[in-house]
Order: sequence, then C-alpha cells, then structure tokens
Amino acid sequence: MNDRLKPADSMPGSFGLPYFGEGLQMAFNYGWELKEKYRRYGSVFKTSLLGKKYAVLVGSEANKLILQDRADRVSSYLGWQPIMEHLFGLTMMLQDGETHRYTRRLMAPAFHGKAIASYFETMQQVVNDNIDLWSHNRPIHLRRELRKLALKVGITLFFGVEGDREVERVEHWHKTLAEGAKAFLRADLPLTAYGRSQSARRHFKAFVRNIIYQRKQQGNLQESKDVLGLFLSAVDEEGNGLSIEQIVDEMVHLLSAAHATVAIALIWSVVELAAKPELRAKLQIELQQVTGGKTLALENLRELKQMTYFLKEIERVYNPGGTILFRGVVKEIEYAGYSIPPGWGILLPTSISRTDVVFVCY
Ligand code: HEM
Repeated sequence: MNDRLKPADSMPGSFGLPYFGEGLQMAFNYGWELKEKYRRYGSVFKTSLLGKKYAVLVGSEANKLILQDRADRVSSYLGWQPIMEHLFGLTMMLQDGETHRYTRRLMAPAFHGKAIASYFETMQQVVNDNIDLWSHNRPIHLRRELRKLALKVGITLFFGVEGDREVERVEHWHKTLAEGAKAFLRADLPLTAYGRSQSARRHFKAFVRNIIYQRKQQGNLQESKDVLGLFLSAVDEEGNGLSIEQIVDEMVHLLSAAHATVAIALIWSVVELAAKPELRAKLQIELQQVTGGKTLALENLRELKQMTYFLKEIERVYNPGGTILFRGVVKEIEYAGYSIPPGWGILLPTSISRTDVVFVCY
C-alpha cells in the first residue's frame, strides 16, 4: 500500500453487528438508509454485510472509476454472486474477463440493429393492442398495467408467444423469486420465503426449458427471430454455442430484469407527463412533425430529439436500474486518499448520486 494512502478501515462509518453487519437494514429498506449515512459521513464510508467489508463510494467520479477506468481491478462475480447466483444462476452479469466477453459475443446478435429492427413492429403491435383496452374512461392501476405491458412485450420478443396466462405466471414467479433476495434464512423448505422463491425459480426454468424443447422438436432454430431463437442459434468460430442451462438462466434473468426496469421507467414517464402539460404538448408536437401523422416507424426514433432527452432524464432522475451496484475488489483501488484492498467489496449507490436532482427537460 502506498504510504500516502489511509487504510480503508479508517473510513468513517461502522461495520454494524457481528456477521450480519448492516445487512438487515439494507435488506429491509432496499439500501435506502445509505442515503442517511451519506448525509452523516459524506461520499466515502465503510459498512459490512454478511461478514464482508465494503467501501461505499457515492458520486459520478466513483461510478466512472469503478465501472470504467478501474473496471479491470474489480469483479462483478465477487460483487453480485452472494445475492444473485442463488436466484438467477451464473448469468452474464456475474461473469468477468474472457468468460464475460465470450457470453456477451454470443448474446449480442439478439440486441443489435437487425434484431432490434425486427422487434420494433411486434412492440408496436403489443403496445397498441393493450393501450386500446385502457381507453374506456375508467381508472386503471397504472403500476400494474405498465408492468403487465412491459412483461407482455418481453415475453413476445423473447419467446415469440403472447398470452395473458404466460404473463400472469411469469409475473408471479418473478415476484416470488425476487422476495427470496431478502431472505436471510436460506432454507429451501415449502414454508420459508426462500423455499417459495426457489420453487418459483424451478417453475420459471421449467417453463423456459419446455419452450426450448418445443423449438428443438420443430427443428427450425435458424428461422426463429426472437431472442430465444437467436440465443439458440448463436455459435462461435468453432461451432460451439451457449449451453441450454446457460440459456435458461439468461432468459429467466433477462425477463425479470428487463421488464422490471422498463416498467419503472414507463411509470415515471407517465407521472411526469401527467404533471407537466406543457412538456406533453411539446412531445406531441414533435411526434406529429416527425411522423407527419403516420404510424411511428423505426427510422423516426433518431429524429425524436425531445423524446430522447425526456427518456434520458427519466433514467437519470428515477434510476430504474435499482439502488445499488455491487463489485468485489481483486486488485487495490485507490480512491479519495484511501486504499481499498482485495477482499473488500464496493457498493455504488447510484440512486444517491442522483437524488436531490431536478427533472430538467428543455
Ligand atoms: C430502463 C431500463 C434498464 C435499466 C435502467 C438497466 C440498468 C442496468 C444496469 C445498471 C446494469 C449494470 C449492472 C452492473 O454492471 O452491475 C444492467 C445490466 C444488464 N442489463 Fe439492463 N437495464 C435496463 C433494461 C434492460 C433490458 C430491456 C435488457 C434486455 C432486454 C437488459 C439487459 C441487461 C443485461 C444483459 C445486463 C448485463 C450486461 C453485462 O454484464 O455485460 N437491461 N442493466
């Protein structure tokens, strides 16, 4: 350790209770008490969770250092594994280095230009069909409806099937699975929250496995243009692809993560638009000018500048990605005069970095 640097143990903050550390508070309020600690200690402080020491680094400079400039010194696996692997398996988000690059290369075709272009029409179709159901001058439960809509779009694009029954089942499995994240008692028994979450995971995986089995039976993998089809037909130079179990885990994780984040972004978009009639009018005028009153086309998206600012602002202010990012330190990190050694974890509470910000749309 460089002599100029102070040890991470000397950061302000506390390690909390033996073993649990401050994990109980974190689990019960999704990490929001970090905001209180930020007010008390400033933008660098220490904590501990389940026997592991963490440096909490708040602000855009810390985010850039850990996620970009020093990304090779931290591990996503060591950060996310304790809380994610038992729910979703070893998905791409928990991989590092070459393994991560390899999985990403095989999954990328499902998220690139050509594939996105082919999803566009389906997305429009699902959204139009569902929004039509809302226009009967009766109140709707906004959160529930937008979650359902995001999930319908997800299920249709991921598996090429759309049905209310699938949406209800996936929503139920997703919710039950997520509740397992807060369970300290990891006993896979029928009456525990953890047991229910693991059971939901098994059902969810069986659902995906069954669709894969049907696809293989039909034998037209190369023709299917949905995310699952593209994952199943992706191969490297030697003709190897992702294993079926890896694809099952990725699909369960993606469907859960993708619909929850998109739904939160949609909910706050509607809230902001409802509260700001002048902004609503501005976006409507832009849409009218760009489409000329015709149905929205893929190539119009780039021209919707105001809409793009608006959606970026929703992401910045409401942070639909969640409250905290986790990393594990594999090589010393220097930050704010401290040395954070290998073995420590890093928490980036990205929501705190963005609280007290004002929604701006020009
Ligand atoms: C507003 C919507 C979304 C937000 C705010 C969001 C946020 C995030 C964040 C913050 C991470 C980084 C986690 C980390 O580095 O530790 C992440 C990773 C990821 N997200 Fe999203 N996400 C959104 C929508 C989606 C959608 C729609 C999909 C797929 C259909 C998706 C797929 C992924 C994947 C595959 C990763 C892992 C990437 C990797 O490890 O290379 N996300 N997302």
